[in-house]
Amino acid sequence: MKLRPENTAGTVLLSLLLLISSTTTQSHNITRILAKHPELSTFNHYLTLTHLAAEINQRTTITVCAVDNAAMNELLAKKPSIYTIKNILSLHVLLDYFGAKKLHQITNGTALAATMFQATGTASGSSGFVNITDLKGGKVGFGAEENDGVLSASFVKSVEEIPYNISVIQISKVLPSNVAEAPTPGPSQLNLTGIMSAHGCKVFAETLLASDAEKTYDDNIDGGLTVFCPEDDVFKAFLPKFKNLTAAGKTALLEYHGVPVYQSLATLKSNNGVMNTLATEGANKYDFTVQNDGEDVTLKTKATTAKITGTLLDEQPVAIFTIDKVLLPRELFKAEAPNPAPAPAPEEAADAPATPKKKKKKAAPAPEDGDSDAPADSPDDAADQTADDNNGAVRFDGVRNWRKYWLLRWSK
Ligand SMILES: *[C@@H]1O[C@H](CO)[C@@H](O)[C@H](O)[C@H]1NC(C)=O
Ligand SMILES: *[C@@H]1O[C@H](CO)[C@@H](O)[C@H](O)[C@H]1NC(C)=O
Ligand SMILES: *[C@@H]1O[C@H](CO)[C@@H](O)[C@H](O)[C@H]1NC(C)=O
Ligand SMILES: *[C@@H]1O[C@H](CO)[C@@H](O)[C@H](O)[C@H]1NC(C)=O
Ligand SMILES: *[C@@H]1O[C@H](CO)[C@@H](O)[C@H](O)[C@H]1NC(C)=O
Ligand SMILES: *[C@@H]1O[C@H](CO)[C@@H](O)[C@H](O)[C@H]1NC(C)=O
Repeated sequence: MKLRPENTAGTVLLSLLLLISSTTTQSHNITRILAKHPELSTFNHYLTLTHLAAEINQRTTITVCAVDNAAMNELLAKKPSIYTIKNILSLHVLLDYFGAKKLHQITNGTALAATMFQATGTASGSSGFVNITDLKGGKVGFGAEENDGVLSASFVKSVEEIPYNISVIQISKVLPSNVAEAPTPGPSQLNLTGIMSAHGCKVFAETLLASDAEKTYDDNIDGGLTVFCPEDDVFKAFLPKFKNLTAAGKTALLEYHGVPVYQSLATLKSNNGVMNTLATEGANKYDFTVQNDGEDVTLKTKATTAKITGTLLDEQPVAIFTIDKVLLPRELFKAEAPNPAPAPAPEEAADAPATPKKKKKKAAPAPEDGDSDAPADSPDDAADQTADDNNGAVRFDGVRNWRKYWLLRWSK
């Protein structure tokens, strides 16, 4: 398996397409389109099982090359794993629009189309490209480019065309590709920290390896896992603060960067909202908010907003993305002061743990605390937890959130 950083030619094209599609609301539904054609039902079923349907729905200017149930049965007879099926089917999604007319009028009679398989970074060399060539008698041949021009399938018919959003065509056979068909390692054999280390997240990976949190990550691989790893320079700069956390705080911080669900970039782009993490326990604890911002996907906590900067791995059931900031959970880090001018001196916060727990009182809504982002953290609840959890490193462990911060200040 060859993993590539985001910025290869293919993914530049991908980002471009995502950029275009991110500004649109969903305009087509591949599942619904194929449902009208019972002879393509197996193909349709596997698009759903592999989560490719969701990714297809997120894109525009694409072509889906469907095959009939007989052709799918031939493929399934080899008993490929669901991950291998995903690779094979993603080779059948072309990242360009080819309606029947364009297929028969290709400039110079031949073209290479990049595919969704090429865009995953799993494909190496030319293996993610499909050769489309006009043949004699109005036929159009299709072949995986890695097979040196062997055009093993041909155009059967147009299924549905929504110019220039999506073209669904039927081709005669599954395109054979040794690369796509290669057995993918079972997800539990994935070396998460190895992948991260090799692609710019070495510091985070090594910190994870030295922690109990690594087991939590590993235990979640089979059921689905999305990792947001801070880039090396970012996590390195954060290490002094990390070392200041309690042992429990360290584990929580690391687990906060994992989400126990597989989320492709396409899914993240279509889902704004609160996301639970591996550190989440109960409601509204150690979660963050995914918010799409133009072409960027950002992850917001009370104390920071990080941006996804790259994809290290995106293969069901595991995705690993790089981010440009360390995610700071509100449970461990106070929010950045919303009003810089009257910002409280840090010393006051550091003194706070000396304040006896008894002195806590109902937090009158502080002016700066007009938001209600932490509904489950009733002030009392937060104060109890803080008093129980922290052992001195208040700047990071003690002040569980902005509300609590004000509670401490007001109780003095
Ligand atoms: C095609 O996608 C565009 C956005 O790219 C959308 O505005 C339009 O409605 C879609 N067309 C159809 C026919 O669905
Ligand atoms: C697409 O259509 C299918 C079948 O009609 C439906 O179950 C599914 O929810 C739709 N997906 C979206 C994202 O609308
Ligand atoms: C078509 O062929 C001509 C001459 O070989 C070449 O210059 C041109 O770039 C080709 N066009 C495309 C789109 O491949
Ligand atoms: C596609 O394959 C054919 C041989 O079947 C070859 O002649 C053609 O050059 C290939 N097209 C491209 C764009 O590589
Ligand atoms: C995972 O990768 C790391 C770094 O490449 C390596 O040190 C470690 O031995 C690997 N672990 C396994 C279980 O292969
Ligand atoms: C770590 O905590 C100590 C004591 O609270 C504080 O003085 C120091 O500045 C902190 N270090 C960092 C890097 O935040």
